[in-house]
Amino acid sequence: MEDEWSRWGLDLHVHLRTGAGHGLRAGLEHALRDAVRSGRLSSGTRLPSSRALARDLGLARGTVTQALDQLVAEGYLESKPRSGIRVAPQPTAPPAETAPPSHATLRPVRGVDLRSGSPDLAAFPRREWLAATRHVMQTAPNTAFGYREPTGAIELRQALAEYLGRARGVSTTPDHIVVCAGYAHALRLVCQVLRHHGGSAGALAFEDPTEPRHPALVEQLGHRARRLPVDRDGLIVEGLTDESAVVVTPAHQYPLGVTLSPARRVELVSWARRTGAYIVEDDYDGEFRYDRQPVGALQGMAPDRVVYAGTASKTIAPGLRLAWLALPSGLLAALREVTRWDESSVSVIDQLVLARLVRTGELDRHVRRCRARYRRRRDLLGEAVTRRLPHGRLSGIAAGLHAVLRLPAGSDHEAALLAHLAGRGIHVEGISPFYHRPERSPLAVVIGYATPAEHAYGSALDALVDALRERMPATGPQPRSGCGM
Ligand SMILES: Cc1ncc(COP(=O)(O)O)c(C=O)c1O
Repeated sequence: MEDEWSRWGLDLHVHLRTGAGHGLRAGLEHALRDAVRSGRLSSGTRLPSSRALARDLGLARGTVTQALDQLVAEGYLESKPRSGIRVAPQPTAPPAETAPPSHATLRPVRGVDLRSGSPDLAAFPRREWLAATRHVMQTAPNTAFGYREPTGAIELRQALAEYLGRARGVSTTPDHIVVCAGYAHALRLVCQVLRHHGGSAGALAFEDPTEPRHPALVEQLGHRARRLPVDRDGLIVEGLTDESAVVVTPAHQYPLGVTLSPARRVELVSWARRTGAYIVEDDYDGEFRYDRQPVGALQGMAPDRVVYAGTASKTIAPGLRLAWLALPSGLLAALREVTRWDESSVSVIDQLVLARLVRTGELDRHVRRCRARYRRRRDLLGEAVTRRLPHGRLSGIAAGLHAVLRLPAGSDHEAALLAHLAGRGIHVEGISPFYHRPERSPLAVVIGYATPAEHAYGSALDALVDALRERMPATGPQPRSGCGM
């Protein structure tokens, strides 16, 4: 066995298998085949001349030429007059049959995208982000770019503590905050912290319906995940028993859109205090409330029992992968232990830029602009349903970036309806996948009204309503409200 470095402008570690029946030529062929198959040598890459390769690898030139000829014959390489030998285009492998990665369902689609989950990406505050980046690069000391605190850059944690207190009524300090790479990362940290704190993986309760990836994630981490129903006041708290935590979306239940009522908030906190459990507050779109002041975070009522989770995915863009947790003091020791192994994986530059946007008030201005834009869109959706789909019932519209449209009996069932819409190039989600027992879900679609660009929203809405009218009865009663809708 022999390893060699070959240098020809690009570095490639060629592992020459020799001995035990492998000659030098066979060893080189094998190494190059392997490099092409694994993608380490990508198609179009030009190889050095056989003379240079022979010199670098310490092989006879004839050996190298024979090996290259063989790979040309096999189709791994191609030889063209005057352009030397290059890696030939390789057939692409069929996609692996594994479970879809998280957010796979939110990858771009052709046509009208009215799926929930994404803000209007055309509204990304590019100018402000650029100005803040310039400021950071001009002013940050060199030490800012070194290894940083495992819980995130102090500059961002300070800015977030102040922002969350002011904008969301969160009562916290920078040392209770952890910067995370998105909510799924945050939830994973919470599971690890709870396990460390409690000494075992307890059960976590989730709302039903809920974003199905989240209970799936905690189960994958070894916790049990239970579902508890939601009504018009939010989570029905009396179903909670001995769970170590419950995950809730109090400001705007996901996906139904109801707000956790004041009485339920009190009941939930009493349960947590009585049992020593924790409440995980997923405040994914809490900044967007349209008809009155945003409902303050539940965390403000019980900072000792609530783990607050926020994200930049709705306020700015999900591609940033920026989220944060504010933890109760009782979990800080466990957090320190967990973050010894799981450091914040967000680039420090992005953290400093976000801190600057918060400090300068640019984030507030951006959120205000977006709130006005989404409110207009929500109003247009409401008008379109009232005028053209009078037998539908729209709910969850007081806040957030999506609404639920309940359909009357006599409409197509969910799969047929979604297929019909997709056939017209319109993409919305059915509500059933959010339920633990999808077969028992009401007939409804979840409409994300933030995703289309501003100029495309009117026509997107028209296309949706036209296509829905084709599959809804023209007469009959509205669906009865219930199940939180
Ligand atoms: C209920 C809920 N919580 C949190 C998030 C935010 O996730 P992330 O921060 O990973 O983008 C989403 C995103 O769609 C969501 O639907």
